Formats: sequence, C-alpha cells, structure tokens
Amino acid sequence: MIPVIAIDGPSASGKGTVAQIVATKLGFHYLDSGALYRIVAFAIQQEGMDEADETRINQLLDTLRIEFNLGSIIVNKQDVTESIRSEECGKLASKVAALRSVRQHLLSLQQSFCQTPGLVADGRDMGTVVFPQAILKVYLTASANVRAERRYNQLISKGISANIMVLLQDIHERDFRDQTRLESPLKQAADAHFLDTSALTIDQAVNQVLIWYSAVSK
Ligand code: DC
Repeated sequence: MIPVIAIDGPSASGKGTVAQIVATKLGFHYLDSGALYRIVAFAIQQEGMDEADETRINQLLDTLRIEFNLGSIIVNKQDVTESIRSEECGKLASKVAALRSVRQHLLSLQQSFCQTPGLVADGRDMGTVVFPQAILKVYLTASANVRAERRYNQLISKGISANIMVLLQDIHERDFRDQTRLESPLKQAADAHFLDTSALTIDQAVNQVLIWYSAVSK
C-alpha cells in the first residue's frame, strides 16, 4: 500500500510548513488540501456568488480546472498561487468547506494525490475521512496566541499590515467553525499522534514526525 502521512490541525498551526518539509525529506508527493477549499472560495468571490447558494456553487465546481505545477496553482489558466492566501479567502474557504457537496466534489481529487512513492497530506480531515488508511496520522496544533503571532509575523514579513487582536479573533472563529460543522469536522483521529508545536521550532516538529514515520515504516 502507498504510504500516506496525514497531518491535520487548526489554521496557522504550521502544519503546511512541516508537511512540506517532511514530504521533501522523504521524496513524497505533497497535498495542501486547504488550497483546494481556498480555490473554491476564490472562484466564488470572483464570480460574486452568494456563499450559501449551493446550486450555483455546484455548477461552478464543475467548471474549475485545477493544476498544481512546480509550486504554482493554476485554475482555468489563471495563476492563483498568491491570491488564495489572503485572510478573506481563508475565512470564506472555512465557510464553503462546511458544504457537503463541496467536500464530496473535492474528495476524489484529493485521493488522486496518493501516488508512489508516498504522500504527505495536510488539512482538517486527512486522517479521519480522506485517507483513513494513512500509515501515520498527526494532529498538529499550537495555542491560539502562538498561531496568531505566527500569522502576524508571516503577514508583516510579506509587507502586509496586520492587527494581532483581529487575527486572534479570526483564528478563534475559524477554529469554532471548522470544529463544529457537521461534515468532516476538524478533530483528532483516534489513532493520531498529538503534536503541540507552541514551544517547538519547525525543525523540531519535522524531526518528531520523521521519528514517528521511521517507527511505523520498518
Ligand atoms: O489550511 P487552510 O487554512 O489553508 O484551510 C482553509 C480552510 O479550508 C479551513 O479553514 C477549513 C477548510 N479545510 C477543510 O475544511 N478541510 C481540509 N482538509 C482543509 C481545509
């Protein structure tokens, strides 16, 4: 069976960075499942659609041609790599991710990333729903304050102004929405390792995941 490492956790926990480095170190493919929900949100924004209009959103989903190409994300020939990273897009992604039809539509696309020699996938439901067979599951988190601080530093370093209290509030709202929705809510899988990175460096978090992986891949 193709090995999958599933890394789930709340927003701004650093799971994307950790997952990407682990994938590179192991020579595995990488799936940023949050990007797919962000793509849907971005397309809804561009079309000026109502975020609750499931019928139109379903029609829109059928028209999206998504390509991941050397670190760039191309949707219907438009490069959306940077545009989907805005706070606004993340917030809308969290809302549309609660729609059953959106999750159903993205399921097989996510599963198609499972290819040899292996996959590291990050998101909210990688270990619970999309890849329940994953050889290693990690629930990676950090305190809300630490996550707000990390997001703040990330935005400032990109020259984008930010307010840490607003970011903290957004994080709380997003956690609440992602954890309480009916469809595939964010939760730790029963067989997942818990990793709190509040006091860890990225390297320490990566090493911990690699240690767990080497224990199960023998
Ligand atoms: O990881 P992220 O912040 O880029 O994800 C954006 C939103 O997408 C997140 O708030 C909830 C949703 N999401 C999801 O519901 N399931 C996933 N596997 C990944 C993301």
